[in-house]
Amino acid sequence: SPVVNVTTREGNVLRLECREGDSLMEVLRDAEIDDELGTCGGCLSCASCHVWVDDADSDALPPSSEDEEDMLDSLDSRCPRSRLGCQVLLGGALQEITVSMPPSEF
Ligand code: FES
Repeated sequence: SPVVNVTTREGNVLRLECREGDSLMEVLRDAEIDDELGTCGGCLSCASCHVWVDDADSDALPPSSEDEEDMLDSLDSRCPRSRLGCQVLLGGALQEITVSMPPSEF
């Protein structure tokens, strides 16, 4: 099954197994690494699912939509490899992804 590697805000590195079709936000939320993560349920209105994707994986992801870009633009901690986890679906060609949690803005 697909795997998410995540470095938490506390600096812990976790390896999370997930199901085909899960969003990155769902996987991180269900792992309870941050109470505030995923508060809008994935409808692109909270940006609490913001992650920094590792360089190699970042290039392999489908481009972000205009709505995702608008939300990312509202974040101080945005960087070129920032994504919103609710917009990244695991499975298919994406069997493993490595991300880290940016500083919280919530
Ligand atoms: Fe709210 Fe992703 S969960 S924008």
